[in-house]
Amino acid sequence: MAEANTGDRMEKIVSLCKRRGFIFQSSEIYGGINGFWDYGPLGTELKRNIRDYWWHTMTRQREDVAGLDATIIMHPQIWKASGHVDTFSDPMVDCKTCKGRFRADQTAEIPCPQKPSKMVSACHGEKTAPRAFNLMFQTCVGPVQDDSAIAYLRPETAQAIFAQFKNILETSRQKVPFGIAQVGKAFRNEVTPRNFTFRSREFEQMELEFFIRPDEAVEAIAGHLASAADIGQCQTALGNDQTDWGWEAWHKYWVEERIRFYESIGLPRQTLVEYWQKPEELAHYARATVDILYKFPFSKRDAQGELMGEELEGIAARSDFDLSQHQRSSGKSMTVFDEELKAAWPKLEPAKQAELKERYYQNRLQYLSKTGEAPDKAEKLAREDAEALTKGYYLPHVIEPSAGADRLALALICNAYSEDQAPDEKGKLETRVVLRFHPRIAPIKVAVFPLLKNKPELVKKAREVRDLLRPWMNVFYDEAGAIGRRYRRQDEIGTPFGVTIDFDTLGEKGPELKDTVTLRDRDTMQQERVKISELLPLLLGRIR
Ligand code: GAP
Repeated sequence: MAEANTGDRMEKIVSLCKRRGFIFQSSEIYGGINGFWDYGPLGTELKRNIRDYWWHTMTRQREDVAGLDATIIMHPQIWKASGHVDTFSDPMVDCKTCKGRFRADQTAEIPCPQKPSKMVSACHGEKTAPRAFNLMFQTCVGPVQDDSAIAYLRPETAQAIFAQFKNILETSRQKVPFGIAQVGKAFRNEVTPRNFTFRSREFEQMELEFFIRPDEAVEAIAGHLASAADIGQCQTALGNDQTDWGWEAWHKYWVEERIRFYESIGLPRQTLVEYWQKPEELAHYARATVDILYKFPFSKRDAQGELMGEELEGIAARSDFDLSQHQRSSGKSMTVFDEELKAAWPKLEPAKQAELKERYYQNRLQYLSKTGEAPDKAEKLAREDAEALTKGYYLPHVIEPSAGADRLALALICNAYSEDQAPDEKGKLETRVVLRFHPRIAPIKVAVFPLLKNKPELVKKAREVRDLLRPWMNVFYDEAGAIGRRYRRQDEIGTPFGVTIDFDTLGEKGPELKDTVTLRDRDTMQQERVKISELLPLLLGRIR
């Protein structure tokens, strides 16, 4: 990054986003609506590239992940079973002086009423005691608006994956371990939306639920669990034998995979923080959660002045909690049958069988007791579950990498923003604003320029080049203004390559340069001469 992360930097980024059509306030002509943002032409392309690359990496590049595109409004019972109706809330306080409403843990700073992307000091008036405020947006389904019609806009995409788990298992020919991925809108009535798009009320999530065998089944099949040293090797694991991976190995693997994903789209590891939640911060059902933080300009600083980062993604090991909840709530079995487990079990020593069965029983008992089952019933159900394990049946556990597309778009913009010095038309140095996007996610991949717009041969050739590239990538054609200014416009929106068609292209300076163009690199500003016939494969190699 070219400069220090400051509030000033954030101001410049927000202003660039509006000026160049990345992000606008929703309903701006009516004064905006707090916590809602629209993506303009370039923002739309950026976000689409993020989603598509996530999808490509998480599903199409793998054999063990299938996709889902579920509805935003689902049966309200889903949110009861998931715990969202009862516990998905933030503590909220009212200010007796200014009548403002704040999250109890965020009363020091609030978004500026005139400029919501900016944080300002909150009123110091006396506050009420905190009370729980449920973050789900409610609506009514059907013409009658009573309690029986209440439904919710989904606050996460994950629950649809659990609810459709059995359908997908049966239709996709997958076996545990495997994952289900979904990208889509989520809605949360955040008490204080803040930091531009970082905390919005409508946003997009990219979630994977990766279902794995419970450790007892892994041990029965593989004879052991991967050791801590093996877990260190899980990082390059695609294609490796994963038979002995328990939840810790899979969790570590996904943390590493996700960090690699961020690196592959231009967020260097040193801009990220891998934050392991402390035991007291974990949800009661979670065994471990790692948050991947990005050092946003608005992140708090530690005692050494280092940016601490804000969450981009959480990777949680959620045990078998979610499927268990939906099984109990819907009355439909969520267990899977595992042929390998069934075959392995009789070959185990009786002492090993007893040990694994007891461990599984204790885990199920703990879940059932914690979620309010009466002691007798909890014991009976846990015994039945442990008995089923010996015959090859279990509830899969899950590792959940859950990321936000809007936060990632903002992180990529913040990371890409830089200013340097470049010569203007007359060779005088001027400040150049550049978005140094990785070509994979840049909204426009290449700009095509005829050197002059009043020379029909140049324009014709430039349009031919545009049409050659267009089926393969997002191309911007620009013939207006001095060439230097056209380059600057593309630099400012992060277009990694510029192609100029000049008189050499037409062969006016000799046959050896005929049908060649200059290819300019945004970051180095270096130009190379390339044959038109070689341009497409060359660019494809650089943008993928
Ligand atoms: N299913 C798990 C889940 O939803 P989460 O940590 O609440 O976990 C996952 O959300 C990701 O969704 C976050 O890491 C963040 O990137 C994104 N996200 C959550 N709330 C958001 C908000 N109000 N605005 C923008 N993105 C949000």
